[in-house]
Amino acid sequence: MTSVPVIAIDGPSGSGKGSIALMVARALGYHVLDSGALYRLLALTALEKGIAADDEAALAAAALDLPVTFEEGAPGEPARVLLAGQDVGDRIREEDVGQMASRVAAFPAVRESLLARQRAFARAPGLVADGRDMGTVVFPGAPAKIFLDASVEERARRREKQLLGQGVSANLPRLVEELRARDDRDRNRPVAPLKPAADAVVIDSTHLSREEVFQQVMAIVRQHGLA
Ligand code: DC
Repeated sequence: MTSVPVIAIDGPSGSGKGSIALMVARALGYHVLDSGALYRLLALTALEKGIAADDEAALAAAALDLPVTFEEGAPGEPARVLLAGQDVGDRIREEDVGQMASRVAAFPAVRESLLARQRAFARAPGLVADGRDMGTVVFPGAPAKIFLDASVEERARRREKQLLGQGVSANLPRLVEELRARDDRDRNRPVAPLKPAADAVVIDSTHLSREEVFQQVMAIVRQHGLA
């Protein structure tokens, strides 16, 4: 296992782990791994190249060869995500890509193909890794593990607010349904299902502000001597 300190932040879609990961990275000057982006990039590749959602071998091969670059900015700034040189940062956040990502992520061979690439993000002075299996599979030796949860209704409301902020119309009941579908797939797959590691601290952010969640996470990080 790596000696670089890793802070693992796992949780379901819309739990806010992405923004919390960036806030923690900014506070500590750490690198960030947005592991969901890798599954989304593979999903986009499959959609564009016409790889079938059930062709595990072809998906795993594509995952090994993903021509992706994460252009890191200052600590805490979201990286620019380039696929074959093209900025796809916005495209991979769209719902069709998210649903496809959740499907391709269920295949063991796909997960295996992305493992080394994820571990390579652990570089000095440290890494904040966000995803579903950071604490259970990718970085089981991480000194600090957080599992960030929130009710599906609250997560859908946050997503609605985000979409409206971008000038995109949103339908709350549909967002709830889409999140439920993705959660079900992510929680019930046999390989690396979404679940807290045995040594993770679970934070339910349903009734907490982003700042309150950040403070709780930083308290855990400090308990582990990382700040
Ligand atoms: O975090 P996200 O919404 O960007 O992730 C997109 C999908 O990728 C999610 O539905 C499940 C999958 N995923 C995964 O299986 N393991 C991870 N570590 C991160 C994401």
